[in-house]
Amino acid sequence: MLTKINHIGVAVTSIEEALPYYRDQLSMNYEGNEEVAEQKVKVAFLQIGDSRIELLEPTSDDSPVAGFLKKNGPGVHHIAYEVDDLVSALQKLEAQGVRLIDKEPRNGAHGTKIAFVHPKSSGGVLTELCQPGN
Ligand code: CO
Repeated sequence: MLTKINHIGVAVTSIEEALPYYRDQLSMNYEGNEEVAEQKVKVAFLQIGDSRIELLEPTSDDSPVAGFLKKNGPGVHHIAYEVDDLVSALQKLEAQGVRLIDKEPRNGAHGTKIAFVHPKSSGGVLTELCQPGN
């Protein structure tokens, strides 16, 4: 069902301030940034091999990422596993009693379809399932 770790999401207060560490000091390949209005975040992607680091900056005070930052401060926010078929992955998990935040796929960055598993069902690790766009 899962094919690889697509990316690791990191909550930051400012992409501009966080970027030099990843792009310049760690020399990761910066792929640009994009606003995901549905989640009230701006995201920046840094490529590392087959995976990415996704920096998440809230664009509004009622963004879920703003809530995370208030509670925990900046840091690791979620792990995103890649799947070939998100709808069937969600059905399988739900059939096994796994609690889902998103029962239906929603729009992520770069034309991806994403859904989150509830941390109560994933040992406190916010888990995203991510199906690449075409
Ligand atoms: Co993500």
